[in-house]
Amino acid sequence: MLTPLLVLCMVSVGVWATTAIREERQVVLDNSYPTVLYINTALDSASANTRADTSNVIHVNLYPPNQKPAEPRRAVVVLRGEAEGTLVLTQEDPPAGVTRIEGSISNLTSGLHGFHIHQFGDLSGGCGTAGGHYNPFGKQHGAPENFNRHLGDLGNIVADESGVAFVNITDPLVALTGLRTVVGRAVVVHAGADDLGKGGNEESLKTGNAGGRVACGVIGFA
Ligand code: CU
Ligand code: ZN
Repeated sequence: MLTPLLVLCMVSVGVWATTAIREERQVVLDNSYPTVLYINTALDSASANTRADTSNVIHVNLYPPNQKPAEPRRAVVVLRGEAEGTLVLTQEDPPAGVTRIEGSISNLTSGLHGFHIHQFGDLSGGCGTAGGHYNPFGKQHGAPENFNRHLGDLGNIVADESGVAFVNITDPLVALTGLRTVVGRAVVVHAGADDLGKGGNEESLKTGNAGGRVACGVIGFA
């Protein structure tokens, strides 16, 4: 049985569910913001979580009857390198819903620094072995509010005159459980600004020309 809410969501974005146990789709609404639907047609009840801020990412989760609600998940990343800091990631309604990333990073040069989640948690060769931006949907590099963005594209953080950046990001695609989990992957802070894919060259659509890696750390459950 499909709830009216789910039917409404599906009709409004022009997508129909298939019989897969769990699937994740991104579809474009008229305003071009990303929308993520979790559809579990094998089960029988639904809850929906629509992000509360400006974009239109819609998360729909179906749970079996009588399942206890998902519990908030927390993760932490300790960044080390030329710069350092600790960030806490919190997702209130995993695997759907937004994830908040909060904390501070010190010892930066003042100004903008590219801030991403990279594919691997392998720091055996320093930040360089963390690979490229986490990109499970095969997109191009972009700004966090773009439809066409790597999942790991979190834009820039800004360091003040004393070299400290306070981070308070709420992102609709970063998740701590499920298909999009970032746990076990690395947060990387760059030496320069991320041009958010608007640099007009090939590298801009891959890395944002953010330069070297000045700090990194592996995201782990807390
Ligand atoms: Cu990066
Ligand atoms: Zn990217």
